[in-house]
Amino acid sequence: MKSVTVLASGRGSNFQAIIDAVSTGELRVECAGLITDNPEAYAIERARAARIPVSIVDYHRYPGKGEYEKALREAMEATAADLYVLAGYMRILGTGIVRHFPGRIINIHPALLPSFPGLHAQSQAIGYGAKVAGCTVHFVNEEMDAGPIIVQECVRVLEDDTEETLAERILEREHKCLPRAIQMFCDGRLRIEGRRVRITGSG
Ligand code: GAR
Repeated sequence: MKSVTVLASGRGSNFQAIIDAVSTGELRVECAGLITDNPEAYAIERARAARIPVSIVDYHRYPGKGEYEKALREAMEATAADLYVLAGYMRILGTGIVRHFPGRIINIHPALLPSFPGLHAQSQAIGYGAKVAGCTVHFVNEEMDAGPIIVQECVRVLEDDTEETLAERILEREHKCLPRAIQMFCDGRLRIEGRRVRITGSG
């Protein structure tokens, strides 16, 4: 069975969706670890409750980004996972790490990329006047929120949506998309061809 390590910075509801999908058997992978840059992340409680090993690489305890990234890479290597999943990991991964794990890191973003990359994607969508919004699971490359797309789902933007109400509706989709993308990766069904991800076979 393939193994997956999750990187998360905060609440960890996407991490929980992975834990739940593993426990129902919907997702057939082993969760090798949680890595967080934030010692206060609620994701840590979720990992402990599920008996998943936790590694805290506290960003603020390193003199600079270089030292932090070296420690992060070591923590990633230590879990020896097949796949690394950024699930609400709120920092940009350095190119050294991205190059070290080519095609083995995926990210979930709460917008229909390439629209609205970066922070506060949901309020960017509302502010722009978009009528649909959604989420994207994509491979991580050296540019932020720009790697080949694996799965997208959309939701309607409602007249009275706030950042919070829209984020909550998108999140429901995220919790479905992310385990699905992980399973497809672990089943060897994803083939990157330039910018496109070909999905082979059937699940
Ligand atoms: C999710 O909406 C995720 O898509 C987003 O942060 C939230 C984390 O929630 N990620 C980004 O914005 C990355 N640029 P969670 O901690 O409850 O999974």
